[in-house]
Amino acid sequence: MSKRYTLTAALPYTNGPIHIGHLAGVYIPADIYARYLRLKGCDVAFICGSDEHGVPITIKAKNEGVTPQDVVDRYHKIIKDSLKEFGISFDNYSRTSAEIHHKTASDFFKKLHKKGAFIEEISDQLYDAEAKQFLADRFVIGTCPKCGYTESYGDQCEACGTSHNAVDLINPKSAISGNIPELKSTKHWYLPLNDHQEFLKSWIELENKHDWKPNVYGQCMSWINDGLRPRAVTRDLEWGIPVPLEGAEGKVLYVWFDAPIGYISSTKEWALSKGKDWEPYWKDKETTLLHFIGKDNIVFHCIIFPAMLRAEGSYILPKNIPANEFLNLEGQKISTSKNWAVWLPEYLKEFPEQQDVLRYVLTATAPETKDNDFTWKDFQARNNNELVAIYGNFINRVLVLTHKYYGGQVPSVTALNSTDAAIFKLLKETPIALQSSLERFRFREASQLIMNLARSGNKYLADEEPWKLIKTNPDRVQTIMNVALQLAAGISVLSEPFLPTTSKKLQSMLNLNVKPTWGFIEKGQHLLAPKHLIGNVSLLFNKIEDSQIEIQLQKLKLSKISNEMETNTIKQKPIISYDDFSKLNLRVGVILKAKKLPKAKRLLVLDVDIGDKVIIIVSGIAKDYNIESVIGQKVTVLCNLCPRNLRGVESQGMILMTKKADGSSVFVQPDLNHSSIPGLIIE
Ligand code: 2FM
Ligand code: ZN
Repeated sequence: MSKRYTLTAALPYTNGPIHIGHLAGVYIPADIYARYLRLKGCDVAFICGSDEHGVPITIKAKNEGVTPQDVVDRYHKIIKDSLKEFGISFDNYSRTSAEIHHKTASDFFKKLHKKGAFIEEISDQLYDAEAKQFLADRFVIGTCPKCGYTESYGDQCEACGTSHNAVDLINPKSAISGNIPELKSTKHWYLPLNDHQEFLKSWIELENKHDWKPNVYGQCMSWINDGLRPRAVTRDLEWGIPVPLEGAEGKVLYVWFDAPIGYISSTKEWALSKGKDWEPYWKDKETTLLHFIGKDNIVFHCIIFPAMLRAEGSYILPKNIPANEFLNLEGQKISTSKNWAVWLPEYLKEFPEQQDVLRYVLTATAPETKDNDFTWKDFQARNNNELVAIYGNFINRVLVLTHKYYGGQVPSVTALNSTDAAIFKLLKETPIALQSSLERFRFREASQLIMNLARSGNKYLADEEPWKLIKTNPDRVQTIMNVALQLAAGISVLSEPFLPTTSKKLQSMLNLNVKPTWGFIEKGQHLLAPKHLIGNVSLLFNKIEDSQIEIQLQKLKLSKISNEMETNTIKQKPIISYDDFSKLNLRVGVILKAKKLPKAKRLLVLDVDIGDKVIIIVSGIAKDYNIESVIGQKVTVLCNLCPRNLRGVESQGMILMTKKADGSSVFVQPDLNHSSIPGLIIE
């Protein structure tokens, strides 16, 4: 019997498309692992689906004036399609609005209720009287009781990752109306995590022996050592799975109660469609269950879900939870609201054939043990210097030479020397090294082992120089080309988990009809028999030009500007009285002279005629205007601003500026044609 694995990848929220952070953190590592296991012949259920409940979806629907169902229908499709495009090979991608999920989650809740696994309690909860809404999760924002972050959500603090109850927030504020909530009593069902504390502690300590990531283990221990408390698993909301009990009308299951059960219902859906039994994948002790997640999901997968599974009683618990850290973009945290992200649908439009390039770059730079940065320049460099110059170049040389020398037929080995043997040894040993990296969830390391194979292939050809020997020693060239071809074929197999589209293309160029397995390479078997005819050759990777990268950087720059503009536009200032306003002496001025200020690149010193006199203004406009272009410009001047000394020059006023869409500053200019302009009052 082949070894059975259930792999789950965090169910994405369906309130927007997904971005590179999701791919790098969860879906690519999970997919590499699933593909690796399948290549090894394991029995794998790789499970995911859309997380369609929860407050962010309700908020989005409200903002757009549509129903939550409209929102989830839209994004379920977008997300599912993007993940497929990137070759994420789920065995099943379901959704939590599916009937099978509602039933599975309801039954799970009922079973726990029947077993007396919950505490039922009436307590005071935060309530927005204006919105007539209890405030939980993302409906409420306040100060985190643990780290002091002032924008923490009701159920989890994004700054320190702590999960808490909404009533624990300090200075809570309704995210709907901005009001300070009142307290209103309501009944809820709680999972007493404290009852599971000792069990969880010993379970985590036991499993940690199997190489858990230090961050995952550390976070778990920190929560456990702080003491676990009962956790509400129901909410007073309209959108979600109704609590399946009498007297619980208007209440739904907490999204983090139903979502992980989504892994189970998605497995059931898959098994049903394949005529299989789903239970061994969740209940057989011989099955290895692994959850691939981002670090913000650790508490839910390491504490709450295992406590739920244990309370139910018939399920296995995960063996490992390889959580990744976060991916930043160009030095800044990825942010949906600030549009600081590379969205997958947009990437696919702009790089339609380059899914594997992004897979490779995100693997080679994955945020495995600490947050990491994605930059477009690095993306370009890894494509051009690694995929094109190393991997693509090796394959291309081998296949083109095979066509040139042998009409595409694999030549036979004449005699092997130690250099040839070293290549075969490297190829045979790489699966062992890969296995060691992958089973410790070191995907970056593993991706470099693949690149190293191609690098060694290039070196081999460069050292052996078949193009020089072809005239003088054709026998030797036969051997060289056979070795290089076997290496290319081995690369096509071992790189499949990382670069599935490339591997498929390469195998078709090699005309490999039977799909070789991992075991083939491990045993050192040759994949290409002499006289085997390879197929046509085309390039596996193409150079990415500077202009393509510039477009991406410009897009990010625009996001930055529009964020700044938005912040400026909406920046609230206190109301002032008319008297305050009338104190401003605003006039039309004309710039008469301008000069640079030594050692102050941004500043120009301007002589400005304001009617009754000429004043000196030091203005930070040198980045946007040169000296010649400002002379004679009509500008708006605040003339009675208290003088300030700027770099040794007294500035006696201020010129009003605004920003253009490209971020440059421009004068706020009066459009006047009067002959005697300087000094005109602006009021
Ligand atoms: O953080 C998130 O995006 C959640 N939707 C993940 C849910 S994983 C699960 F347990 F289903
Ligand atoms: Zn916090």
